[in-house]
Amino acid sequence: MEKLLIIEDNEDIRSQLRWGLAKDYEVLVAGDRLEALPLIKKHTPKVITLDLGLPPDETGCEEGFRCLEEILRRIPSTKVIMITGNGEREHALRAVQNGAYDYYRKPIDLTELKVILARAFHLSAIEKENSRLQDNIDQQCLSPAGIIGTSPRMLEVYSSIRKVASSEVAVLITGESGTGKELVAKALHELSPRKSKDFIAINCGAIPENLLESELFGHEKGSFSGASGRVQGKVEYANNGTLFLDEIGELPLNLQVKLLRFLQDKSIQRVGGREDIAVNARIIAATNRNIIKETEAGSFREDLYYRISVIHIKLPPLRERGDDIMLLANLFLRRCGTEFGKKLRRFSADSVKLLTSYEWPGNVRELENKVLRAVIMSDDIIIEPEFLDFSLSSAKERIHSYTNLTLKDAREMVEREMVISAIEKQRNNMAKAAEMLGISRPTLYDLVKKHNIAKNLEYIDLPN
Ligand SMILES: Nc1ncnc2c1ncn2[C@@H]1O[C@H](COP(=O)(O)OP(=O)(O)OP(=O)(O)O)[C@@H](O)[C@H]1O
Ligand SMILES: [Mg+2]
Repeated sequence: MEKLLIIEDNEDIRSQLRWGLAKDYEVLVAGDRLEALPLIKKHTPKVITLDLGLPPDETGCEEGFRCLEEILRRIPSTKVIMITGNGEREHALRAVQNGAYDYYRKPIDLTELKVILARAFHLSAIEKENSRLQDNIDQQCLSPAGIIGTSPRMLEVYSSIRKVASSEVAVLITGESGTGKELVAKALHELSPRKSKDFIAINCGAIPENLLESELFGHEKGSFSGASGRVQGKVEYANNGTLFLDEIGELPLNLQVKLLRFLQDKSIQRVGGREDIAVNARIIAATNRNIIKETEAGSFREDLYYRISVIHIKLPPLRERGDDIMLLANLFLRRCGTEFGKKLRRFSADSVKLLTSYEWPGNVRELENKVLRAVIMSDDIIIEPEFLDFSLSSAKERIHSYTNLTLKDAREMVEREMVISAIEKQRNNMAKAAEMLGISRPTLYDLVKKHNIAKNLEYIDLPN
């Protein structure tokens, strides 16, 4: 039951109200300001009726106004209904100007007062809901540097980001592929005092091993064949800024040693160089590998692991982020829709079921791609599951998530998926796709027609 506080010095009125309203509210009563304040603090009632003429100023109104002011200072959202005597209209208006929600003139008619009270509680509930929604929005905007999500797991991540961004400590970000590790690394940089300096990223997994050392530390002229001039490495470029070592789990052991030396000495030598070059860079590393296991297995140096993981931020997989899935899906839908000039899109109920029950091995990146594809492929306002292109591996979940699915429907669905997947895998080579599926080419073309797949594949070579 909602709490209602009645501040009234007249004992008769007080008990009349208390009994009259007890069925609808948990009624608290106070005879004066000093009695009321502790109750307000303890119960934070959403609605208060306040007698204007309170002792020691029963005939005046100053004590009433003082009480109003103190209530609103403590809980500004409280709805205060001033109860005034006859001929106090001016005071009543002043009270409303000072923040009272409404006024009511004595003598009190209980039925009438009940209506006013119900309205006040209703408004209070609306305001509360409104502020909750606003908080959600703020939280999303607050979420550093465009990271979307309000799930408890992500709020923890934000809180870690805020705590460590301004410090200089090394941060290790781990999480499955597509969970937003790079996004978090950028957020850390953006929220740090180094934000006006460079954010230099290097993907340790994407550069051939023989070039990686030079890419990281630079080289002197003639240090190896093809080294025609002096080149600065990424580490040097990151001086005063942030160095993001992406896929650090891919770093070969010999370079792990060199990186460790840099982290200890804060200086580097270019390949083929003798000079020690001081570099002051903040280190952020990321990996989707289980680096602790690799450390135990010896493929990642333990001393390096401790250096780079002073703080460890673990990004949860998308499937563990609850409502964030639809939050992100709708956001991507809106974004892509605007980009392609297609508006008023939404997901059908079946699509929502599918999106929220899917495993998301590719996490946010996969979700983004699926939505983009659906926006391009579907001309409908409502996005149905068929446009979300769930691969065969998820067929089981899809089948479970459909309502009223017959065996025939399921067969059709799997057939369609297999055809699309084979054609995609064979890059639209119909002969190979047919072979892969164990059917003849004409049969494949029939299936493509039957399932209306041509529409969905841009470069398919359909015979006329
Ligand atoms: N919480 C999020 N809110 C909005 N966009 C996100 C979020 N997480 C990831 N993304 C988007 O998903 C894509 C993948 O993110 P990112 O590249 O940071 O992932 P990653 O963990 O580095 O992946 P990988 O391990 O494959 O390198 C990017 O386009 C990114 O903007
Ligand atoms: Mg990445």
